Amino acid sequence: MTDGGRVRLDQLPAWQALAQHRAELGDVSLRELFDGDPRRAERYGLTVGGLYLDYSKQLVTDETLRLLRELAGATEVAGLREAMFRGERINVTEDRAVLHTALRAPADAVIEVDGENVVPAVHAVLDRLSAFAERVRSGEWRGHTGQPIRTVVNIGIGGSDLGPAMAYEALLPYTARELDFRFVSNVDGADLHEALRDLDPATTLFIVASKTFTTIETITNATSARQWLLDGLGGDQTAVARHFVAVSTNAEKVAAFGIDTANMFEFWDWVGGRYSYDSAIGLSLLVAIGPDRFREMLDGFRLMDEHFRTAPPERNAPLLLGLLGVWYGAFFDAQAHAVLPYSHYLSQFTAYLQQLDMESNGKRVDRNGEPVSWQTGPVVWGTPGTNGQHAYYQLLHQGTKLIPADLIGFARPVAELSPVLADQHDLLMANLFAQGQALAFGKTPDEVRAEGVAEELVPHRTFPGDRPTTTILADELSPSVLGQLVALYEHKVFVQGAVWDIDSFDQWGVELGKVLAKRVEPALVEGAEVPGLDPSTAGLVARYRALRGR
Ligand code: F6P
Repeated sequence: MTDGGRVRLDQLPAWQALAQHRAELGDVSLRELFDGDPRRAERYGLTVGGLYLDYSKQLVTDETLRLLRELAGATEVAGLREAMFRGERINVTEDRAVLHTALRAPADAVIEVDGENVVPAVHAVLDRLSAFAERVRSGEWRGHTGQPIRTVVNIGIGGSDLGPAMAYEALLPYTARELDFRFVSNVDGADLHEALRDLDPATTLFIVASKTFTTIETITNATSARQWLLDGLGGDQTAVARHFVAVSTNAEKVAAFGIDTANMFEFWDWVGGRYSYDSAIGLSLLVAIGPDRFREMLDGFRLMDEHFRTAPPERNAPLLLGLLGVWYGAFFDAQAHAVLPYSHYLSQFTAYLQQLDMESNGKRVDRNGEPVSWQTGPVVWGTPGTNGQHAYYQLLHQGTKLIPADLIGFARPVAELSPVLADQHDLLMANLFAQGQALAFGKTPDEVRAEGVAEELVPHRTFPGDRPTTTILADELSPSVLGQLVALYEHKVFVQGAVWDIDSFDQWGVELGKVLAKRVEPALVEGAEVPGLDPSTAGLVARYRALRGR
C-alpha cells in the first residue's frame, strides 16, 4: 500500500525485517545477552560532549540496531533533519520552518528563512536580552518608586512556562540568589495569588511570555497582575512600563495589552512554543543565571545539534534514543516512557519533556493526513529518584506493563552543598545504579529460594527483569550539560516523528478544548444557553451553577 507514491512505514522492508527479527528474538533475556557478549557494556556505550549513554541494558542486539538504522535510512530522518537545519518549512500543517537550532547557532552562521539570514536577528535579541538582564541583576533597572527589582514573576503557559521554569530549577545553584523567581501559569487564580501574596509591587517585575500573546490563561493572569500592581502603587498607569516586559512574536497584541514595545523582546514564528526556552522566552532564566551562563547553555545545545547533524548513525545519540522508542512502541507494544532523573534540581525536567514529546508526537495521522496504523508518541512521565522508588517503581519492576526508562545522574553533587550533604550523593547514585541493575536483571525464582524464602512467597518476590533502561551519566548539572540534555531529547523526538511520518511541530489537539471552554464559560457565569451542549456537560454545568448559588 502506498501513500502519495510513498511506501507506508509498516510496509517498508526494513519494518518487516524488524517484525521478523522481533519474533526471532522471542523472550531473549538481558542476562543471556550479557552472558553472550562480555564486552556488551563497553560496546553499547556512547559519549557525546559531557554525556555518557549506556544503552547496554536495552533489549537489543547488533542486528536490532542495524535494522533500526536501516529503518531510519528508509524513512525521511536524514532528509528532514537537513531540511530542518536549512530552514525549510517542515511544519507542513502550519507551513512554517522549524528552526530552534538557529537560536544557538554561532554569530557567523548563515541560516535563511525566505531568503533572509535569521542569525543576526537572533544575536541582536540575545544581546538586548543580556543587557536587560544585567540591568535587573545589578539593580540599575528601577521600579516605579525608584527601588531595584527583588522578584521576577514569569507569566506564561506551556512552552512559555515549562522551559524557563524547568531550567531555573535545574540551574538554581547558578542563579542570583538575592533575586526571587516565580512562575505563574495556571488560570486558577490560586496560582497568581500564591505567587503574589507576600510580594511588594514596588520591587516586582513581571515578564509576560507568550508567543501569540492571545493565550487566554496568560492574558488573564497578566491582566490580573497589572491590576494588582496598579492597586499597590496608587493607580499610576506609568508604573506598568517599569514593572512589565513582554516576550512575544506579536508586537501588535503586546501594545494592545498596554506594554510598551520598547520593553518587548521578540522571537519568531519558526520557533515552536515547546522548543522556545533558549529564545527570548528564557528571559526569566537569563536574568536568574546571567548572560554568560545562558550562553554556556546555548553552547551545550549547539554541541548536541552538531553531533546530531554530523555523527554517523552508529554513534548518533538522538538517533539511537529515537529508534529505541520506535522499537518498543512497535514491537513490544510499550505505551509509556519513564524519565527518571536522579537529581533534585531536575524535578521539573520530566514535566518539561511531557510537552516536548507528547505535544510533538501525540499524533494519529501522518504528514499526508492518513491515519497511521503504528504507535506514535508514548506517555512520558516520571519524577526524580529516589522519591519515585517509594511510589511507583513497584509497577516498573513487577507490573504487567513494559515501560522503558531513562535514568539520568551526575557524578558530582553541586558545589554549594555542605560536605555532609555532598556525602549523600554516593547514596543517591547507588540507588540509580541499583535500579538499573534490578530492572534489567531482576531476581530469578531460584535466587529467591536460595535466600530461604518460603515457596508460596517465591512468585511474589521474583523480579522478572528485562525492563530496559538507558543510563545517562554526566559529570555535573552545568548550564552546558543541561543544554546538551534538552537538545538530546529535542532531536530524539524529531527522529521519532520523522520515522512515524507525522508532523511533530503542530499541536491542533490543543485547540478544541480551548474553543469549547470559551463557549461554555458564559453558561457558567450568566446561565447562557450553549447550543449543542451534550446532556452530561449540561448537567455538570447546572450542578456547578447551583453549587455557586447562581
Ligand atoms: O498548548 C498549546 C500552546 O500553543 C503551546 O504549544 C504553547 O507552548 C502554549 O500554548 C503557549 O502559547 P503562547 O506562548 O502563545 O502563549
